[in-house]
Formats: sequence, C-alpha cells, structure tokens
Amino acid sequence: MKRIIIIGATSGIGEEVARIYTQQGWRVGIAGRRAERLEDLQKTAPHQIEVQPMDVTTEKATEELQLLIEKLGGMDLFLLSSGIGYQNTSLTPAIELSTVHTNVQGFTRLVTAAYHYFQQQGGGHLAVISSIAGTKGLGVAPAYSASKRFQNTYIDSLAQLSRMNKTPITFTDIRPGFVATALLKEERYPLLMKPQEVAAAIVKGLSRKKRRIVIDGRYKILVFFWRMIPQWLWERLPIHNGLT
Ligand SMILES: NC(=O)c1ccc[n+]([C@@H]2O[C@H](COP(=O)([O-])OP(=O)(O)OC[C@H]3O[C@@H](n4cnc5c(N)ncnc54)[C@H](OP(=O)(O)O)[C@@H]3O)[C@@H](O)[C@H]2O)c1
Repeated sequence: MKRIIIIGATSGIGEEVARIYTQQGWRVGIAGRRAERLEDLQKTAPHQIEVQPMDVTTEKATEELQLLIEKLGGMDLFLLSSGIGYQNTSLTPAIELSTVHTNVQGFTRLVTAAYHYFQQQGGGHLAVISSIAGTKGLGVAPAYSASKRFQNTYIDSLAQLSRMNKTPITFTDIRPGFVATALLKEERYPLLMKPQEVAAAIVKGLSRKKRRIVIDGRYKILVFFWRMIPQWLWERLPIHNGLT
C-alpha cells in the first residue's frame, strides 16, 4: 500500500487531497496545528489515517515528521500544503514576519527533512503547494508573494541538487490560482475554484509525476501574460486581489 504524508491537512486543499488518497486506498499521514481536525479526519478511516499535531514554525516539527513517518511505516509521497497568507496593504510587520516564519522557515524545515528522508531511502516524490502568486511581486501581499517565489526557486534548486547527488527524487511544484478556502478569508476573488476540484487536479498531476502543475487552465493563460508584462509597467498596475 502506498503512503503519503500531507502537512497542512486540517482544512482547505490539503484536507481534500487527504480525502481523495484515502478513498484511493493509500495510507495517509496528516499533520497540522489543529489536533481536533486531524482526529475528525482520522475517524473517517481509522485503519488508513495516521495523525501528528505539528506546528511547522517550531524546531520539533522535524522530529514530529519522523514520528509520523514511523506511524505510517514509511513515506512514498510527501506533500507540503501548510501555508498562511494575508493582504497587507498597511505593511504591518507582524503579518509580514509571521508569513515568512510559516511559508519560508517552516517550509524549508519540512522540505529539507523530507529531502533527507528520501535521500536515505534512495528515492521518493516530494511535492509542495506554492501558488501562481510567486510569478510576480504583488503589492497587496508582499510577504505572501515573495514567500511563494522562494518556494518556487527552492524546489527548482532541489531538483538540480538531487540530480547532482544522483538521488532519484521526483519534484512537483503545484501552483493554484484562487481557491475558496479559509486562506482567502471570505473576501471576493475572481475565477474562484472549489478546493475539491483543485484537489482532484493535484492528485491527477501527482500520479503523472508532473514537475509543475498550474491550476487551472485559465490561470495558465493568466500567468503566461503576466510573465510578459515588463517590470516598469507591472509596478504601475493597481492589482487589488493579489492573494493566491
Ligand atoms: N486558497 C488559495 O486561493 C490558494 C491559492 C494558491 C495557493 N494556496 C496555497 O495552498 C496551501 C493550502 O492553503 P489553503 O488554501 O488550503 O488554506 P487553508 O484552508 O487555510 O489551509 C492551510 C493549512 O495550512 C496549515 N498550517 C498553517 N500554518 C501552519 C503551521 N504553522 N504549522 C502547520 N500547519 C500550518 C493549516 O493547519 P492548522 O491551522 O491546523 O495548523 C491548514 O491545514 C497554502 O500553502 C496556500 O498558500 C492557496
């Protein structure tokens, strides 16, 4: 039986991905800060799901990942879905810094731990949910968009490093557009997708071992044009709903 670990599976996209893998008969290890949400999900398939309360911003998260791997009897696929995001036009430092702690520091802590595990094991599949927000710097959400660019670049770097080290790790960088989850805080966003649809697209892309998954096709087109906008023009564009 295949085994997946999902960090950030207490709500939103991570939770929906966990449900699909459980339905597909995988052993599923889930983590997040809200222990009661983890237990609720475990009750839906107690023989398949293992849980581990975890805060990625704490040092002990690395040991907790190891504990979860042991409970699950190993790990074939690692998916990092944990993340926070805020619009922060007032540039409140505490908001910027907490975003960096979770999306950069916590991300690095868990991704390096998963990389080392796969390196020791002689292979595996390492996937993260970043965002299309990493494509360009968004004025309404500076730390969020910068943290997502960090994640994109980090995975590019690890993909090269693993080849240099001749470690057969498959990498997938998942970049969704707007998804109707708690992250968006019930504000209005265009081209909103349902977390269930996004989770289905993620599972499909992961089964094909895709290196990069942009969800959905409308966002692929949007990102294509975003990339073509010259920097001098980009900086003059008032983009208001920039949290993705
Ligand atoms: N919604 C969107 O429009 C959108 C678009 C593109 C990318 N994304 C990305 O998708 C990922 C999932 O977000 P979502 O939309 O599903 O939002 P969500 O429902 O708020 O889920 C976020 C998950 O991250 C976990 N998390 C947050 N801080 C954590 C911490 N310190 N330690 C451990 N887990 C933590 C949360 O669990 P606890 O609170 O229980 O810890 C929760 O399970 C994020 O990385 C987000 O940036 C979202």
